[in-house]
Amino acid sequence: MFSNKVVVITGASAGIGAALARECSRQGAIVVLAARRRERLDALCAELTAQGGRAVALSTDVADEKQAARLVEEAVQRFGRIDVLVNNAGYGIFGRAEDISPEEFRRIFAVNLFGVHYACRAAIPVMRRQGSGHIINVSSVSGGVPLPFNSAYCGTKFALNAYSDALGMELRGDNIRVSVVAPGPVATEFLDAAVQKLRLRPGLQRHLLMQSPEKIARVIVGCIRRPRRRVYPSLLFWLYVRLYELFPWLMEPLLRRGVRRAMFRD
Ligand SMILES: NC(=O)c1ccc[n+]([C@@H]2O[C@H](COP(=O)([O-])OP(=O)(O)OC[C@H]3O[C@@H](n4cnc5c(N)ncnc54)[C@H](OP(=O)(O)O)[C@@H]3O)[C@@H](O)[C@H]2O)c1
Repeated sequence: MFSNKVVVITGASAGIGAALARECSRQGAIVVLAARRRERLDALCAELTAQGGRAVALSTDVADEKQAARLVEEAVQRFGRIDVLVNNAGYGIFGRAEDISPEEFRRIFAVNLFGVHYACRAAIPVMRRQGSGHIINVSSVSGGVPLPFNSAYCGTKFALNAYSDALGMELRGDNIRVSVVAPGPVATEFLDAAVQKLRLRPGLQRHLLMQSPEKIARVIVGCIRRPRRRVYPSLLFWLYVRLYELFPWLMEPLLRRGVRRAMFRD
Protein backbone atom coordinates (compact mmCIF):
# COMPACT_ATOMS: atom_id res chain seq x y z
CA MET A 1 0.00 0.00 0.00
CA PHE A 2 2.90 2.33 0.71
CA SER A 3 4.85 1.33 -2.34
CA ASN A 4 5.84 4.48 -4.22
CA LYS A 5 3.43 6.68 -2.29
CA VAL A 6 4.93 10.18 -2.26
CA VAL A 7 4.95 11.52 1.30
CA VAL A 8 6.07 15.10 1.97
CA ILE A 9 7.11 15.69 5.59
CA THR A 10 7.87 19.11 7.04
CA GLY A 11 10.04 19.28 10.15
CA ALA A 12 11.84 16.13 8.97
CA SER A 13 15.27 17.09 10.32
CA ALA A 14 14.51 15.96 13.88
CA GLY A 15 12.10 14.30 16.29
CA ILE A 16 8.72 13.11 15.05
CA GLY A 17 9.36 14.16 11.43
CA ALA A 18 12.66 12.26 11.16
CA ALA A 19 11.15 9.16 12.81
CA LEU A 20 8.19 9.37 10.43
CA ALA A 21 10.50 9.67 7.41
CA ARG A 22 12.33 6.48 8.52
CA GLU A 23 9.06 4.61 9.09
CA CYS A 24 7.53 5.69 5.74
CA SER A 25 10.73 4.81 3.89
CA ARG A 26 10.84 1.39 5.58
CA GLN A 27 7.31 0.81 4.28
CA GLY A 28 8.35 1.65 0.71
CA ALA A 29 7.22 5.26 0.38
CA ILE A 30 9.14 7.96 -1.48
CA VAL A 31 9.83 10.63 1.11
CA VAL A 32 10.35 14.34 0.59
CA LEU A 33 12.17 15.75 3.60
CA ALA A 34 11.72 19.43 4.46
CA ALA A 35 13.14 21.60 7.25
CA ARG A 36 15.65 24.44 7.58
CA ARG A 37 18.75 22.52 8.72
CA ARG A 38 20.21 21.30 5.46
CA GLU A 39 23.00 19.10 6.92
CA ARG A 40 20.54 17.13 9.01
CA LEU A 41 18.22 16.60 6.07
CA ASP A 42 21.12 15.50 3.87
CA ALA A 43 22.33 13.02 6.49
CA LEU A 44 18.83 11.53 6.85
CA CYS A 45 18.40 11.43 3.09
CA ALA A 46 21.74 9.58 2.72
CA GLU A 47 20.71 7.12 5.47
CA LEU A 48 17.39 6.31 3.78
CA THR A 49 18.96 6.02 0.34
CA ALA A 50 21.69 3.70 1.68
CA GLN A 51 18.93 1.43 2.95
CA GLY A 52 17.42 1.24 -0.53
CA GLY A 53 14.78 3.93 -0.02
CA ARG A 54 13.94 6.89 -2.25
CA ALA A 55 14.21 10.29 -0.61
CA VAL A 56 15.02 13.88 -1.38
CA ALA A 57 15.98 16.70 0.98
CA LEU A 58 14.62 20.18 0.30
CA SER A 59 15.64 22.89 2.74
CA THR A 60 12.53 24.89 3.52
CA ASP A 61 11.39 27.46 6.03
CA VAL A 62 7.66 26.76 6.11
CA ALA A 63 6.95 30.25 7.43
CA ASP A 64 8.03 31.61 4.06
CA GLU A 65 5.14 31.30 1.64
CA LYS A 66 7.39 31.08 -1.41
CA GLN A 67 9.57 28.34 0.13
CA ALA A 68 6.50 26.31 1.14
CA ALA A 69 5.12 26.60 -2.39
CA ARG A 70 8.50 25.66 -3.87
CA LEU A 71 8.62 22.54 -1.68
CA VAL A 72 5.35 21.30 -3.17
CA GLU A 73 6.39 22.31 -6.68
CA GLU A 74 9.73 20.47 -6.45
CA ALA A 75 8.13 17.36 -4.99
CA VAL A 76 5.73 17.25 -7.95
CA GLN A 77 8.48 17.98 -10.47
CA ARG A 78 10.59 15.10 -9.14
CA PHE A 79 7.97 12.48 -8.40
CA GLY A 80 4.88 13.56 -10.35
CA ARG A 81 2.45 13.61 -7.40
CA ILE A 82 1.93 14.11 -3.68
CA ASP A 83 -0.08 11.42 -1.94
CA VAL A 84 0.43 12.60 1.63
CA LEU A 85 1.45 15.96 3.04
CA VAL A 86 2.44 15.83 6.70
CA ASN A 87 2.60 19.32 8.21
CA ASN A 88 4.71 18.53 11.23
CA ALA A 89 7.14 21.49 11.54
CA GLY A 90 6.54 23.42 14.72
CA TYR A 91 7.88 24.65 18.03
CA GLY A 92 6.72 25.98 21.40
CA ILE A 93 7.08 29.03 23.62
CA PHE A 94 6.89 28.71 27.39
CA GLY A 95 6.37 31.94 29.27
CA ARG A 96 3.97 34.53 30.62
CA ALA A 97 1.80 35.98 27.87
CA GLU A 98 3.00 39.53 28.58
CA ASP A 99 6.64 38.46 28.12
CA ILE A 100 6.05 37.22 24.58
CA SER A 101 6.91 39.97 22.14
CA PRO A 102 4.63 40.66 19.18
CA GLU A 103 7.43 39.43 16.92
CA GLU A 104 7.74 36.13 18.81
CA PHE A 105 3.96 35.79 18.72
CA ARG A 106 3.85 36.46 14.98
CA ARG A 107 6.69 34.02 14.36
CA ILE A 108 5.14 31.05 16.17
CA PHE A 109 1.88 31.55 14.28
CA ALA A 110 3.89 31.92 11.07
CA VAL A 111 5.49 28.51 11.57
CA ASN A 112 2.81 26.46 13.37
CA LEU A 113 -0.25 27.78 11.54
CA PHE A 114 0.51 29.95 8.51
CA GLY A 115 3.17 27.46 7.37
CA VAL A 116 0.52 24.75 7.31
CA HIS A 117 -1.78 26.93 5.23
CA TYR A 118 1.00 27.81 2.76
CA ALA A 119 1.83 24.13 2.19
CA CYS A 120 -1.85 23.11 1.98
CA ARG A 121 -2.61 25.93 -0.42
CA ALA A 122 0.10 24.70 -2.75
CA ALA A 123 -0.69 20.99 -2.37
CA ILE A 124 -4.51 21.04 -2.62
CA PRO A 125 -4.67 21.80 -6.38
CA VAL A 126 -2.14 19.01 -6.98
CA MET A 127 -4.22 16.52 -4.95
CA ARG A 128 -7.42 17.69 -6.62
CA ARG A 129 -5.88 17.05 -10.06
CA GLN A 130 -4.78 13.59 -8.91
CA GLY A 131 -8.28 12.87 -7.61
CA SER A 132 -6.97 11.95 -4.15
CA GLY A 133 -4.73 13.03 -1.32
CA HIS A 134 -4.25 13.10 2.40
CA ILE A 135 -3.15 16.04 4.56
CA ILE A 136 -2.00 15.22 8.09
CA ASN A 137 -1.46 18.12 10.46
CA VAL A 138 0.57 17.40 13.57
CA SER A 139 -1.10 19.31 16.37
CA SER A 140 -0.89 18.57 20.10
CA VAL A 141 -3.01 17.86 23.14
CA SER A 142 -2.36 21.58 23.69
CA GLY A 143 -4.79 22.06 20.79
CA GLY A 144 -7.50 20.58 23.00
CA VAL A 145 -6.45 21.62 26.50
CA PRO A 146 -4.97 25.10 27.00
CA LEU A 147 -2.08 25.38 29.43
CA PRO A 148 -1.09 28.46 31.41
CA PHE A 149 2.31 29.91 30.38
CA ASN A 150 1.80 28.29 26.98
CA SER A 151 -0.75 30.67 25.49
CA ALA A 152 0.90 31.35 22.15
CA TYR A 153 1.63 27.69 21.43
CA CYS A 154 -1.88 26.63 22.51
CA GLY A 155 -3.30 29.38 20.33
CA THR A 156 -1.52 28.00 17.29
CA LYS A 157 -2.61 24.41 17.93
CA PHE A 158 -6.26 25.24 18.77
CA ALA A 159 -6.37 27.25 15.55
CA LEU A 160 -4.69 24.42 13.66
CA ASN A 161 -7.36 21.96 14.81
CA ALA A 162 -10.17 24.28 13.71
CA TYR A 163 -8.42 25.00 10.41
CA SER A 164 -7.97 21.28 9.78
CA ASP A 165 -11.58 20.37 10.60
CA ALA A 166 -12.91 23.12 8.32
CA LEU A 167 -10.54 22.05 5.55
CA GLY A 168 -11.52 18.41 6.00
CA MET A 169 -15.20 19.23 5.41
CA GLU A 170 -14.30 21.46 2.47
CA LEU A 171 -12.21 18.81 0.69
CA ARG A 172 -14.16 15.66 1.42
CA GLY A 173 -15.97 15.89 -1.92
CA ASP A 174 -12.59 16.01 -3.69
CA ASN A 175 -11.47 12.75 -2.08
CA ILE A 176 -8.84 14.61 -0.07
CA ARG A 177 -8.76 13.59 3.58
CA VAL A 178 -7.55 15.87 6.37
CA SER A 179 -6.37 14.43 9.68
CA VAL A 180 -5.06 15.90 12.90
CA VAL A 181 -2.61 13.86 14.94
CA ALA A 182 -2.45 15.22 18.49
CA PRO A 183 0.39 13.82 20.59
CA GLY A 184 0.98 14.40 24.28
CA PRO A 185 4.60 14.93 25.36
CA VAL A 186 7.14 13.28 23.06
CA ALA A 187 10.84 12.70 23.76
CA THR A 188 12.36 14.96 21.08
CA GLU A 189 14.34 18.22 20.99
CA PHE A 190 11.04 20.09 21.30
CA LEU A 191 11.72 21.42 24.81
CA ASP A 192 15.29 22.47 23.88
CA ALA A 193 14.02 24.21 20.74
CA ALA A 194 11.17 25.96 22.60
CA VAL A 195 11.58 29.63 23.42
CA GLN A 196 11.75 29.58 27.21
CA LYS A 197 10.76 32.77 28.95
CA LEU A 198 10.48 30.99 32.29
CA ARG A 199 13.05 28.46 33.37
CA LEU A 200 11.72 24.93 33.05
CA ARG A 201 12.56 22.49 35.80
CA PRO A 202 15.63 20.39 35.02
CA GLY A 203 14.74 16.77 34.27
CA LEU A 204 11.20 17.81 33.35
CA GLN A 205 11.18 15.21 30.59
CA ARG A 206 11.22 12.43 33.15
CA HIS A 207 7.90 13.60 34.62
CA LEU A 208 5.86 14.16 31.50
CA LEU A 209 4.72 10.65 30.48
CA MET A 210 6.77 10.97 27.31
CA GLN A 211 6.12 8.84 24.25
CA SER A 212 8.86 8.09 21.73
CA PRO A 213 8.91 9.80 18.34
CA GLU A 214 8.96 6.31 16.79
CA LYS A 215 5.64 5.52 18.47
CA ILE A 216 4.11 8.75 17.08
CA ALA A 217 5.55 7.90 13.65
CA ARG A 218 3.83 4.49 13.73
CA VAL A 219 0.55 6.16 14.72
CA ILE A 220 0.86 8.59 11.79
CA VAL A 221 1.58 5.70 9.42
CA GLY A 222 -1.55 4.01 10.81
CA CYS A 223 -3.46 7.19 10.01
CA ILE A 224 -2.10 7.19 6.44
CA ARG A 225 -3.34 3.62 6.03
CA ARG A 226 -6.73 4.37 7.61
CA PRO A 227 -7.43 8.11 7.50
CA ARG A 228 -9.23 9.52 10.51
CA ARG A 229 -10.23 13.06 11.42
CA ARG A 230 -8.52 13.17 14.83
CA VAL A 231 -5.92 10.80 16.23
CA TYR A 232 -4.59 10.78 19.80
CA PRO A 233 -1.50 8.57 20.09
CA SER A 234 -2.05 8.26 23.84
CA LEU A 235 -5.31 7.04 25.34
CA LEU A 236 -4.48 8.87 28.55
CA PHE A 237 -4.16 12.21 26.76
CA TRP A 238 -7.32 11.52 24.77
CA LEU A 239 -9.08 11.17 28.12
CA TYR A 240 -7.41 14.37 29.35
CA VAL A 241 -8.82 16.31 26.36
CA ARG A 242 -12.29 14.80 26.82
CA LEU A 243 -12.29 15.68 30.53
CA TYR A 244 -11.33 19.25 29.74
CA GLU A 245 -14.10 19.54 27.13
CA LEU A 246 -16.68 18.26 29.58
CA PHE A 247 -15.48 19.81 32.84
CA PRO A 248 -13.31 22.90 32.17
CA TRP A 249 -14.39 24.39 35.54
CA LEU A 250 -12.90 21.36 37.26
CA MET A 251 -9.76 21.06 35.17
CA GLU A 252 -8.67 24.70 35.02
CA PRO A 253 -7.84 25.14 38.73
CA LEU A 254 -5.95 21.83 38.65
CA LEU A 255 -4.02 22.88 35.53
CA ARG A 256 -3.23 26.29 37.03
CA ARG A 257 -1.71 24.79 40.16
CA GLY A 258 -0.21 21.69 38.53
CA VAL A 259 1.58 23.35 35.61
CA ARG A 260 3.24 25.99 37.72
CA ARG A 261 4.48 23.49 40.28
CA ALA A 262 5.48 20.73 37.87
CA MET A 263 7.09 22.68 35.04
CA PHE A 264 8.74 25.86 36.16
CA ARG A 265 11.49 26.77 38.58
CA ASP A 266 10.50 29.61 40.90
N1 LIG B 1 7.65 16.91 21.44
C1 LIG B 1 6.48 17.11 21.99
O1 LIG B 1 6.32 17.02 23.23
C2 LIG B 1 5.28 17.43 21.14
C3 LIG B 1 4.00 17.23 21.68
C4 LIG B 1 2.89 17.51 20.91
C5 LIG B 1 3.04 18.00 19.62
N2 LIG B 1 4.27 18.19 19.11
C6 LIG B 1 4.36 18.74 17.75
O2 LIG B 1 5.08 17.83 16.95
C7 LIG B 1 5.72 18.55 15.89
C8 LIG B 1 7.17 18.10 15.79
O3 LIG B 1 7.83 18.40 17.01
P1 LIG B 1 9.04 17.54 17.59
O4 LIG B 1 8.65 17.11 18.95
O5 LIG B 1 9.49 16.52 16.60
O6 LIG B 1 10.10 18.70 17.78
P2 LIG B 1 11.62 18.85 17.27
O7 LIG B 1 12.38 17.60 17.54
O8 LIG B 1 12.10 20.14 17.85
O9 LIG B 1 11.45 19.00 15.69
C9 LIG B 1 10.83 20.12 15.14
C10 LIG B 1 11.01 20.08 13.64
O10 LIG B 1 10.35 21.23 13.08
C11 LIG B 1 11.26 21.86 12.20
N3 LIG B 1 10.98 23.28 12.08
C12 LIG B 1 10.89 24.21 13.07
N4 LIG B 1 10.68 25.43 12.53
C13 LIG B 1 10.63 25.25 11.19
C14 LIG B 1 10.45 26.13 10.08
N5 LIG B 1 10.27 27.45 10.24
N6 LIG B 1 10.45 25.60 8.84
C15 LIG B 1 10.64 24.29 8.64
N7 LIG B 1 10.83 23.42 9.64
C16 LIG B 1 10.82 23.89 10.89
C17 LIG B 1 12.64 21.58 12.79
O11 LIG B 1 13.63 21.62 11.76
P3 LIG B 1 14.67 22.82 11.50
O12 LIG B 1 15.01 23.42 12.83
O13 LIG B 1 15.80 22.11 10.83
O14 LIG B 1 13.95 23.75 10.59
C18 LIG B 1 12.46 20.14 13.24
O15 LIG B 1 12.68 19.27 12.15
C19 LIG B 1 5.53 20.03 16.20
O16 LIG B 1 4.50 20.55 15.41
C20 LIG B 1 5.12 20.05 17.66
O17 LIG B 1 4.30 21.15 17.97
C21 LIG B 1 5.40 17.92 19.83
